[in-house]
Amino acid sequence: MNTSRQTRFGPNSTAAEVVAGHDLSGTTAVVTGAASGIGVETARALAGAGARVLVAARDAARGEATAADIRRSTGNPQVAFELLDLASLRSVREFAARYLADGRPLHLLVNNAGVMATPFGLTEDGFELQFGTNHLGHFTLTTALLPALRAAGGARVVSLSSRAHGIDDVHLDDPNFAHRRYDPWAAYGQSKTANMLFAVGLTNRHAAEGITSNAVMPGVILSPLWRHTPQWGQRRQDADGRIGTPPGWKTAEQGAATSVWAAVAAELQGVGGRYLDDCAVARPWPGGGSMPGGHYRPYALDPDRAEALWRLSETLVAG
Ligand SMILES: NC(=O)c1ccc[n+]([C@@H]2O[C@H](COP(=O)([O-])OP(=O)(O)OC[C@H]3O[C@@H](n4cnc5c(N)ncnc54)[C@H](OP(=O)(O)O)[C@@H]3O)[C@@H](O)[C@H]2O)c1
Repeated sequence: MNTSRQTRFGPNSTAAEVVAGHDLSGTTAVVTGAASGIGVETARALAGAGARVLVAARDAARGEATAADIRRSTGNPQVAFELLDLASLRSVREFAARYLADGRPLHLLVNNAGVMATPFGLTEDGFELQFGTNHLGHFTLTTALLPALRAAGGARVVSLSSRAHGIDDVHLDDPNFAHRRYDPWAAYGQSKTANMLFAVGLTNRHAAEGITSNAVMPGVILSPLWRHTPQWGQRRQDADGRIGTPPGWKTAEQGAATSVWAAVAAELQGVGGRYLDDCAVARPWPGGGSMPGGHYRPYALDPDRAEALWRLSETLVAG
């Protein structure tokens, strides 16, 4: 594989440009959190290339409306909503059971849903809200869907992370902030590091079965993810309710590009455990200080930490 940062695509590429020329007919994709922000445009691009797409979301009305909008805009009738609340392991397991009962292979799983910098909260199962939703929910979903991923004979799992992984490592001894003061950004950083370690762990355990996973930094996009920050209060919306893009930020269509690149790029065939940024493989940044774009903190792709997190996650979700 060419690991140089030079690819055909870059920071301004859109998901539609990345998927152009790919024929995904006969494949199935699940996109979590697909009723908002980057997820909508990820689902739309995959559906536009012919994939059958499940819009997995926790709000049924918005999920149904998004699926209908994508069917309309792409002309692909195989786009449907499925209920999924990642903050409830019961809901996650019910989603996976419904999927497996259908008997279809799963070629693409885009673990896109997320919450950011929330006030302290707990999931239905008692996990800190960001670690529980962003990591443990997707961990449970992916491991429950393994039979369908195996059946695809080559499946890719995209794990949405963030440059915010640089804020903090996973605290394996206290992931739920039971014994340390809660900090909304440290909790987000921890959960996004977990998303990267998960991509490493999944690839290391399942690449031999054709399942690989890369982590993605989508860019900075003013979506409802930002609702707990001052930037959200300063947003501008046009007459159609579309949120304006501040200078230097990405649109949702650009934000979906690296997820779609992770899903379809020929040069990533059989490649996993990487961190992708601006449609390119990022490089390690072992130094301190401010980390430039296109780089990652090495602790977040460390195979031993990935294995330790995997074992901890198995224990936590087993109850
Ligand atoms: N936007 C950025 O600047 C940025 C930067 C780096 C990384 N990311 C990552 O990119 C991903 C997508 O972010 P986005 O900007 O598109 O944000 P978004 O518009 O807020 O979309 C996130 C989606 O996740 C869903 N979600 C949250 N909790 C859920 C739960 N318990 N069960 C099911 N779905 C749930 C949300 O559902 P509701 O609509 O019902 O809340 C929403 O549809 C996230 O993983 C985020 O961490 C974003």
